[in-house]
Amino acid sequence: MGAKPESAEMLSYQHHYHAGNLADVHKHALLASMLDYLAQKPKPLIYIETHSGRGLYALDAPEALKTGEAAAGIARVERLGWFAPTHPYARALAATRAKHGASAYPGSPLIAAALLRQIDSIRLAELHPQEFAALRAVMAPHGGIFEQTDGLQMALSITPPTPRRGILLIDPSYEIKSEYETLPGFVANVARKWNVGVIALWYPLLATAPHIPMLAALTAAHPAGLRHEVRFPPAREGHGMQGSGMFILNAPWGTEAEAARLGKLFAALPRD
Ligand SMILES: C[S@@+](CC[C@H](N)C(=O)[O-])C[C@H]1O[C@@H](n2cnc3c(N)ncnc32)[C@H](O)[C@@H]1O
Repeated sequence: MGAKPESAEMLSYQHHYHAGNLADVHKHALLASMLDYLAQKPKPLIYIETHSGRGLYALDAPEALKTGEAAAGIARVERLGWFAPTHPYARALAATRAKHGASAYPGSPLIAAALLRQIDSIRLAELHPQEFAALRAVMAPHGGIFEQTDGLQMALSITPPTPRRGILLIDPSYEIKSEYETLPGFVANVARKWNVGVIALWYPLLATAPHIPMLAALTAAHPAGLRHEVRFPPAREGHGMQGSGMFILNAPWGTEAEAARLGKLFAALPRD
């Protein structure tokens, strides 16, 4: 994998500055909706994640307060009533707060843990040593296999997984610019090996639009893939991220409708 950093110490991105921002709302709401649909059938499924982060975030921590991204993100959209209590994202938020306190915010692995059942399994990779230690501590009670390793290598090595039903979330921090070039090849490799898997790739919409060639390659290789993008006001002046995108192969029934609902909500977000 050309996108692999030479060492974990090269990674500087830490999601606790950004947890609960509008990109997380987009990604996590779609993820929760897909998991909820798959979990309705009484058959086991697997949740695989390449870039897991630390699993649990404190929105009252100095890092979160410093950027204000969660205040402009999940806190704001909950005030606006975007998610009914029965929405799977709201259920995962409620389960996390009940266990970890009112300021807790679930990362994607904890959202999966909240929505999966005893018969399901979880397989997670995270390369950063501190993030991995935190992830392992928070996920241990839920069970699963957690590895401090390159997530792309891990996913390639275990696909097609057992059971065959499941979701792979790829949520890189895009610290290494070559990731935009290597991800289409990675997605194609996994999709070839696991043609029934739900494969979801998140990407940022930046002012410089580095995602455009990546999406061109992905849509050319997978014309049936679901591409969904939302735009939002920058978290603060000069912030480069202008929106959030998800490219999904084998999107479960209902994903398109939820994406359309979210699209309308994001479009109506006051630009103050
Ligand atoms: C955007 S964060 C993940 C957030 C998480 N998916 C969530 O939604 O809660 C990206 C994470 O990927 C980790 N990372 C970067 N390169 C990696 C690699 N090659 N393999 C595994 N993890 C990696 C970073 O340390 C960081 O914690």
